[in-house]
Amino acid sequence: MSDTAVSAAATVIDGKAFAQGLRGRVAAAVETLKRDHGLTPGLAVVLVGEDPASQVYVRSKGKQTVEAGMNSYEHRLPETTSQDALLAKVAELNADPAVHGILVQLPLPAQIDAQTVIAAIDPNKDVDGFHVINAGRLMTGATGAAAPLVPCTPLGCLMLLKHHLGNLSGLDAVVVGRSNIVGKPMGQLLLAESCTVTTAHSRTRDLPAVCRRADILVAAVGRPEMIRGDWVKPGATVIDVGINRIDPAGDASGGGKSRLVGDVAYDEAVAVAGAITPVPGGVGPMTIACLLANTVTAACRAQGLTPPDLGAG
Ligand code: GUN
Repeated sequence: MSDTAVSAAATVIDGKAFAQGLRGRVAAAVETLKRDHGLTPGLAVVLVGEDPASQVYVRSKGKQTVEAGMNSYEHRLPETTSQDALLAKVAELNADPAVHGILVQLPLPAQIDAQTVIAAIDPNKDVDGFHVINAGRLMTGATGAAAPLVPCTPLGCLMLLKHHLGNLSGLDAVVVGRSNIVGKPMGQLLLAESCTVTTAHSRTRDLPAVCRRADILVAAVGRPEMIRGDWVKPGATVIDVGINRIDPAGDASGGGKSRLVGDVAYDEAVAVAGAITPVPGGVGPMTIACLLANTVTAACRAQGLTPPDLGAG
């Protein structure tokens, strides 16, 4: 072989297969909890209104919860539901001992303040990990009974990274995006793994140069194919959180087929990266699998049991 750099195509990180394995480990843990402790974890999902994408998500969550052997409680409330009525529903679920996890599907209608509703969820049942108590526990590195419930999408990204790379200590990680749901908790998780973390965002100067420093590049901006191949350091591990639906160009009738793309220009990045998650089939399937894992974690803690380590694939 000559000295010229020969770029092998990146390893494609199969999130779909990993998520399937994780759901299998969740189902096995549920079986053990039922047999040894008479405990069936229960997940309550609340959907307000008729947002079509939310309806699809909620249906999938309910189906996968049941497939894992857990109890699923679905609460559908009308679009016109008042904030007080939703808070009353949350209070009812907080008090229900059969419910170990509560998820209020976002976005919520305009008359309801999401932060107020999230703040009303019992932090120990907050399987989304969105409550400030869980955000604070994550930031401060709380462990044992005080360990946080971690937001599902970044938790899934971390599982894929550890599975692929093993020890992350000392690696340069760049997270593009600073949302409370993905970017901020992702940065905290990588910091806890002793990465050197940069959180970049829309105001970051010379974003391509910042990204090129990354051994681990996590894209969570919600902008189709924004991260180009020449922003990726050769050999880097690229995690693409974006799920963007692109309508076919020039087809005003809408008759053509739309397709899903990530926040990373995949065809360019795959030639440079060491490993990369595809869209679809990368991070996406991990989110619900991690929701099921968080429900098992919450159920165990509610009973004073040590939760199983489900993340190691
Ligand atoms: N809407 C889109 N993703 C999510 C999520 O992870 N949790 C909740 N509660 N709502 C969402």
